[in-house]
Amino acid sequence: MTEQATQEYDDNLMALLEAVWGEGFMSPGGVDEVDRYLNGIELTGLSVLDIGCGLGGIDVHLVKRHGAAMVTGIDVDQALIDRCDLLAQKYEVTAQVEFICVEPGPLTFGDASFDIVTSKDSIIHIPDKKGLAADVYRVLEPGGWFVASDWLAGYEDEPSQEMKEYLVVEGLDFGLASAKTYLEALQSAGFIDIEIVDRNDWYRQQARLEREQMGGILYDGLASKVGTEFLEHEIEVWDKMIIAIDQGQLRPTHLRARKPARD
Ligand SMILES: C[S@@+](CC[C@H](N)C(=O)[O-])C[C@H]1O[C@@H](n2cnc3c(N)ncnc32)[C@H](O)[C@@H]1O
Repeated sequence: MTEQATQEYDDNLMALLEAVWGEGFMSPGGVDEVDRYLNGIELTGLSVLDIGCGLGGIDVHLVKRHGAAMVTGIDVDQALIDRCDLLAQKYEVTAQVEFICVEPGPLTFGDASFDIVTSKDSIIHIPDKKGLAADVYRVLEPGGWFVASDWLAGYEDEPSQEMKEYLVVEGLDFGLASAKTYLEALQSAGFIDIEIVDRNDWYRQQARLEREQMGGILYDGLASKVGTEFLEHEIEVWDKMIIAIDQGQLRPTHLRARKPARD
């Protein structure tokens, strides 16, 4: 695995993901899933860093629904950052969001720059979980929450044969790690109140609905947008992913942890 994640998501893949997961989303569950992982976390008037902002749907939501004062979305793909800017214009939140294209690697923000750090299904692309956790801790204000969702591995060492097959057809640059690895990374960074909530059961059902829609109600519209060959390939990705999800090898997971307040 490398950290060279730039331009992995091409126009066809973005069109497909938005059709299946909603405008501005490159991960499952839409705004409802965002609200679930943020449950109980107050964002009103706060500054938020979103690592791996994708198409910006979450960032717009954090401003419009959660009242964040300023959301900084970072991503390694300039084409995605351009799309985020367009979405912010469409929803008239340009004064409350900024999107920055960054190099993979350590965060370049100063210490204690943000009240909240969030990320949805993007840390999977960052292999060094320990380095990332330490970095997030550094840029958080004392007392601030790191609150995220990510795709975790249900295995420590070797994936199952079916998981390997899924990873090959998916073809994205993943740095998957287990809940144990995430926990150790958060603990060693100094976080407290760590919670890791498995979402495998939820996504087991959800992924089947998505697959049904891709082969049914969405098929013709998507085929005319992205071509039948690409669509059929993505349906195969979903079929293999569902097996990996059913086996518990791939586990969508909510994560939260707090930087201790100054005494
Ligand atoms: C599955 S998408 C999720 C996007 C968005 N959070 C969402 O849920 O719709 C993962 C995103 O992480 C970005 N990414 C990959 N490596 C990254 C890194 N090192 N730093 C920041 N973003 C990264 C990708 O370009 C992509 O936009």
